[in-house]
Amino acid sequence: MPKHPESNTERRFSRLTELLAGWQPLWQPAPFMYRQPPWQSAYRELAEMLRQLSDDEVTRLQADPLQDSLLRAWLPVEELADLVRLAPLAAENFSLPPAWGQHVGGRKWLQIEAFARHLQVSAKDSLLEWCAGKGHLARALARCHATEVAALEWQAPLCAEGRRLAAKQRAAVCMRQQDVMAPDVVRHLSSQTHVVALHACGDLHVRLLELAVAAGSAVTLAPCCYHRTQEAVYRPVSARGRALSGDFGLRLNRDDLSLAVQETVTAPRGVRRRREQANAWRLGFDELQRELRGEDRYLPVPSLAYGQLPERFEDFCRWAASRKGLALPGAFDLVPFERIGWQRQAEVARLELVRHLFRRPLEIWLVLDRLTLMEEAGYRAQVGTFCDAKLTPRNLFILARKA
Ligand SMILES: C[S@@+](CC[C@H](N)C(=O)[O-])C[C@H]1O[C@@H](n2cnc3c(N)ncnc32)[C@H](O)[C@@H]1O
Repeated sequence: MPKHPESNTERRFSRLTELLAGWQPLWQPAPFMYRQPPWQSAYRELAEMLRQLSDDEVTRLQADPLQDSLLRAWLPVEELADLVRLAPLAAENFSLPPAWGQHVGGRKWLQIEAFARHLQVSAKDSLLEWCAGKGHLARALARCHATEVAALEWQAPLCAEGRRLAAKQRAAVCMRQQDVMAPDVVRHLSSQTHVVALHACGDLHVRLLELAVAAGSAVTLAPCCYHRTQEAVYRPVSARGRALSGDFGLRLNRDDLSLAVQETVTAPRGVRRRREQANAWRLGFDELQRELRGEDRYLPVPSLAYGQLPERFEDFCRWAASRKGLALPGAFDLVPFERIGWQRQAEVARLELVRHLFRRPLEIWLVLDRLTLMEEAGYRAQVGTFCDAKLTPRNLFILARKA
C-alpha cells in the first residue's frame, strides 16, 4: 500500500482506486460485446444467479445497484455503498420566485435553485458562469445576489438569446461570446473571480479547474460527461490520482468514463421499452453480422438518436449493414436473428448489473481526482451532493476556494 496522510478524502480516494482497479476484469468489459462475458468462467455461479433474476429485480437494481443487492455474495457491495455515501453540503433554505424560472425547463430550474442554495458567495466575489448556454444560472444568481454576473458561451445565438432574456428580466448578466478552450479565456479569471458551472462537460470543466488554480479563482462546479475528452486514455488530473492509478494499475479509457454517467433519471415505460427494442435489434444484428462475416467478433454500429429507430427489424439491419459496408442477401429470414436479439438483450441487461455496481464509485473517484487537484494547489475543497439524484443523477458538487 502507498504511504499517504490519512484524510477522509485520501482514504476514500485510495480505497476506491484499489477496488476499481482490482475489479476491472468484471466491470470493464461491456457484456453486449460478447456472447459470454470474459469473467464468466471464473464467476460461473454469479453469472447463473444473474440470468435467473426477474425483470422487476433487474429494473430495481439498474436504478439502485448498491441497495439490497444479491451480488454482495461475490462483490464488495457494502463497502462500495459506504465509499459513495457523501455527507450533505451546507445549504440555505430559500426558494427562488417561480417567475424567475420563466423560459427554463422545469427540471433545469429546480437544479438551478438547488445550485443557488448551496453556493457560498463572499462579498468580494465576482461571479462568472462557465459554458453558460443561455445564461439561465447566471440570471438566477444575478437576481439572487443583486450583483452582476458574467457568462461565457461560445455559440453566438445562445449569447444573443441570453442577452435578450437578461434584458427582459432586468438581470445584470453580461454574456460574453468566448471559446473557453482558447488561450485568451484567461482574461476573464482573477483571484476575485468565483467561477460557477452547472453540468460543464469533461475537458471544459477540467480546463476551468486548471485555469482557476492558475488565477487563484474560487470554483463551484457540478461536473458532467467525463468521457467528453480529447484523450483516448484518461490521465488523472491530480498528482495523487496519477500515483494511485499507477500503484494499483487502474487504467481508464474513454468508454470506461462513459459508465460514470450511464445512470439517467428513470425514463417513462414507453421510452424504456423503445430503448430495450433498440438494444435487442442491435444484438440481433450482431448475431447476423457474425454469420455474414464468418467472424465471431463484435462490430460497433453507430448510435441512432432517440426517435430515429426504423419501424422494422429488417430496415434496421439494412441501415446497420450499409453503415458497415456489408451486403445483405435480398431474401433473408431475419426472424431467428430478431428472436436471438431479444434473448441476448434480456441476458445483457442482467449481466450488466455487475457494471452498474461500479457506476457511482467511478463517478465519485473522478470527482475526488478533481477535488484533489484543487487541494494540491492549496485550495480548501469540499465535495457533496447539491440535489436529489431524482432531479439529476449528475448531482455532485465541488466547492473550492484558495486557502
Ligand atoms: C451541457 S451545456 C450546459 C449549459 C448550462 N450550463 C446548463 O446547465 O444548461 C454546455 C454548454 O457549453 C457550451 N460550450 C461547449 N463548448 C464550449 C467552449 N469551447 N467554449 C464555450 N462554451 C462551450 C455549449 O454551447 C453549451 O451551451
